[in-house]
Amino acid sequence: MVKPSGTDDGAQGPTLAEVGGERPQSDAARAAFIRAWTAALPPPLVPELVVYTAQEATDLWQATEDELHAAGLPPPFWAFPWAGGQAVARWLLDHPEQVRGRAVLDFGAGGGLAALAALRAGAARAVAADIDAFAATAQRLNAALNGLPLETVDRDIIGTPAGTGALAGIDLVVAGDVCYEAGMSGQVLTWLRGLAATGLPVLLGDPGRTFAPADGVEELASYQVPTPLALEDRTMRTTLVWRLLAA
Ligand SMILES: C[S@@+](CC[C@H](N)C(=O)[O-])C[C@H]1O[C@@H](n2cnc3c(N)ncnc32)[C@H](O)[C@@H]1O
Repeated sequence: MVKPSGTDDGAQGPTLAEVGGERPQSDAARAAFIRAWTAALPPPLVPELVVYTAQEATDLWQATEDELHAAGLPPPFWAFPWAGGQAVARWLLDHPEQVRGRAVLDFGAGGGLAALAALRAGAARAVAADIDAFAATAQRLNAALNGLPLETVDRDIIGTPAGTGALAGIDLVVAGDVCYEAGMSGQVLTWLRGLAATGLPVLLGDPGRTFAPADGVEELASYQVPTPLALEDRTMRTTLVWRLLAA
């Protein structure tokens, strides 16, 4: 395996197999992996922040799902600021009056960009929730990069009622790019619509994924988000930010 290019500190990092071979991996091992295989970069639509991002030249980017699976690793969703998350982050930064002093939960947060944007826009609290342990580590590292006090939740919170558990005290829920799989999208949208029905505002960022809602949404903004060709088969995606309406 070649040394990854574009590392932020030039350190020789562990290989995919070395970090993935033993489960559960430690947070320290995941952090070493993330630092070695990514670079701290500003997402194109959100230059106010930096996040650890895999680059097209690295093996992590080029690794297939089969190779990652063989190494004991889930797909590295946390390693890219996806178009949906960038759009939500942009909207939060451009509408600080919707965020200031509030508590925000970023569901399916990946590296936590939208949650970090909420904090940068003046949120009192922001929680990044994702089931991938690598995402939780990436969120912690990204929070440190930006000097922001992000909270993380690394368990499945789908179905959690408003005002309880991870949603206790939460005033606004956001979700970027979570409509890419039939089963997951169905569960997530049912749950999020239920939250909206209780009066909790829910924002969704989506670049036209297959399982995005066709109705029951109010469009708040549309952005042209630059995307890596190798990942999205195109260099730009029109990405919408919606307010989800109750069921
Ligand atoms: C395409 S990524 C989007 C990440 C981020 N929101 C962004 O836009 O950059 C989707 C994320 O949803 C997470 N995810 C999938 N199922 C989930 C679940 N049941 N609960 C929480 N997160 C989940 C994945 O681990 C992944 O990080």
